[in-house]
Amino acid sequence: MSQRAALPLDVQNSYRARYRAMRPGWSSSGEQLEALVRSYLTPGSKVLDLGCGRGGVVELFWKDVKLAVGIDPDVPSLTEHRAHGMPVIRGRGEHLPFAGESFDLIVCLWVLEHLRSPEVVLRGVHRVLRPGGHLVWLEHVRSPIAPVRWVQQLLDPLLVRLEADHLLRDPLDHLRGEPVAIERLERSRLGYIERGVARKLSASGNPG
Ligand SMILES: C[S@@+](CC[C@H](N)C(=O)[O-])C[C@H]1O[C@@H](n2cnc3c(N)ncnc32)[C@H](O)[C@@H]1O
Repeated sequence: MSQRAALPLDVQNSYRARYRAMRPGWSSSGEQLEALVRSYLTPGSKVLDLGCGRGGVVELFWKDVKLAVGIDPDVPSLTEHRAHGMPVIRGRGEHLPFAGESFDLIVCLWVLEHLRSPEVVLRGVHRVLRPGGHLVWLEHVRSPIAPVRWVQQLLDPLLVRLEADHLLRDPLDHLRGEPVAIERLERSRLGYIERGVARKLSASGNPG
């Protein structure tokens, strides 16, 4: 007997349709993310999906840009990657196998929270991004709201142990030490999900 998903896709879609009818102009978080990422793309863009897993937002536009490549250490995810034909590489963000200034845009979704050394990965991101290029991230972060953060502090040791999922981090802790400009920063209502865009500055501090 097939088990029904806790919230099947058809039910999710009917909620979205109802919400859209009630609030014209409303868009889902997935649609908002896609629109945000697309706003940084041109047909000539070179894009890296760091920790691509089986796909994500890049699978929606990879054919529309000059180059989109995914990197992830997990072979089953790469084997099941949904964008058939998109180049994917087995590797880790700590050792990005690309020349400096190779990419216009790096997308990092739900990845940094799982890493042992996010600061090493973010340094690599900075190296392979061209000056003026952008990093878009979407991550669980440490909430600035004290009661939420207390719950995160309680859960963090367990989740780190069980799922290597760190709840008390924030990419900004490391990005603020790099020559980047934070162009956008949005948090969920309870503050534990963060979506951000950073632009790499040139050596002189200019946008590049
Ligand atoms: C929660 S999944 C997110 C996948 C994808 N970005 C998405 O939005 O669906 C986290 C991904 O990070 C990858 N990952 C874990 N450690 C990594 C590392 N050191 N470098 C790059 N990716 C890593 C995992 O293999 C996994 O595919």
